[in-house]
Amino acid sequence: MDRKKFIQLSSSATLFTLFGGVSWLLEGCKKTAMNMAKSISVNSGNFDNPLRLLPVLNGASPINFTAKQNQTTIIKGKISNALGFANDILAPVIKVNNGQTVSINVTNQLEEKTNIHWHGLIIPENMDGHPQYTINQGSSFNYQFTINQKAGTNWFHPHPHLTTGKQVNKGLAGMFIINDTEEAALNLPSGEFELPLIIQDRRIYSDGSINYSPEAEDVMSGYFGQYVCVNGSWSAYHNIKTKIYRLRLLNGSNARVYNLSFSNNLDFNIIGSDGGLLSATQTTNSLLLSPGERADVLVDFSAVTVGTEIYLQSNSFNGGDSQGSESFKILKFKVTEQITETFTIPTSLAVFNPIPSSQAIKTRSFDIANNHSGGHGGMNMGSSSSIHKIGGKSFDMDRIDETVTAGTTEIWEFDNSAGADLHPMHLHGVHFQVLSRVGGRGIILPHETGWKDTVLCMPNEKVKIIMTFPNNLGKFAFHCHNLEHEDSGMMLNYKII
Ligand code: C2O
Ligand code: CU
Ligand code: CU
Repeated sequence: MDRKKFIQLSSSATLFTLFGGVSWLLEGCKKTAMNMAKSISVNSGNFDNPLRLLPVLNGASPINFTAKQNQTTIIKGKISNALGFANDILAPVIKVNNGQTVSINVTNQLEEKTNIHWHGLIIPENMDGHPQYTINQGSSFNYQFTINQKAGTNWFHPHPHLTTGKQVNKGLAGMFIINDTEEAALNLPSGEFELPLIIQDRRIYSDGSINYSPEAEDVMSGYFGQYVCVNGSWSAYHNIKTKIYRLRLLNGSNARVYNLSFSNNLDFNIIGSDGGLLSATQTTNSLLLSPGERADVLVDFSAVTVGTEIYLQSNSFNGGDSQGSESFKILKFKVTEQITETFTIPTSLAVFNPIPSSQAIKTRSFDIANNHSGGHGGMNMGSSSSIHKIGGKSFDMDRIDETVTAGTTEIWEFDNSAGADLHPMHLHGVHFQVLSRVGGRGIILPHETGWKDTVLCMPNEKVKIIMTFPNNLGKFAFHCHNLEHEDSGMMLNYKII
């Protein structure tokens, strides 16, 4: 079946009538084929908008951010009411060296509480942006912390309880890049050849407005948008030279998983995962990236003929009941200039020591299947907002769900074997390694061979991770990074003592 036809077949009208509208919702989130996303077909456009290049701030100097509404253009000719930390959608990229102290003053000019969670940074509890620490409307907070971790592609976004999905979807997010000497020795592509790319789908109305307004079915599956944006640009192109580029890919979407590939089948040479560089470059031509995950990749455009147009695209995949049915293009690279490339892609990258599983003093297992087919609808149990759970529990700001000891190693297992929906599971405050995946895909993927903070658990999968807790005492969150799942309760607290 050709791509066009596939998209037509999976278009909204077909699926919606096939599954009989929304009446099933009242039954709760059952494990049936009806646990279906609100059908939103991706609108790819003509790829004639220039890609927004995010400004870069040096994190060595104090940074001032203001969370506020800004007018921006995502669809030509239409004004969108986006949120941002500066004067446009999103935020400038923060770049900092390991060892530096960072000071970011955040002023809240929204009409509600906000805060910033530094996703991937290992920092003290009171700087991490747990939902218990929010900034009131009209107030400011100074985030200050010293970087003590390896080079890597991290990010940041608000984390107030119940409104994370809304604030991220409307544009509050940014990339936080850490450099170090180990990375510098590799002489990786930089300047115009290093591109931070934040991929996010948005639901935009015909007047250009981004009015995040999830219905019950969006809460169930996640909020999908028809406009897949990169750095807040939709249907964009970027002119490139015949060189090797470093793409820092971040899936900053609320719920959508992308099965990335290039239209001409170019390789992703994966050099880094969430928490930094891999030990060795891993080459693949398809890269499944779930919300919250990052992939640091080198792409070799040096042998491509000038004039060629290459799309970064997402192919269909088997993603449970609500994801993967559609293929679509995301970003166009136009090769416009021939220059000589002398850089070669390194094979060996950084020191990476696998944590032996024998080091673990404890294993904890969490049922994340959210399979309520036993007759009780998930929405009838507990509070009305707690549709999604971890281990049968939904988020309680003050409850400590797990207690761990600093310096000790544990294995945690996320068990989605009875689940119908996928869940990217994320831990604050610690980096982990993926130990095993049983069931489902049954393998550890190339981009999962390094330090991680978010791991995708597909239906039928049990994923084990291993980690040593750092010496930052206090309460941290762990949750599903499908932000509608998170906001509807799929988050718990753990405490490091
Ligand atoms: Cu990026 Cu608690 O999340
Ligand atoms: Cu996080
Ligand atoms: Cu989830």
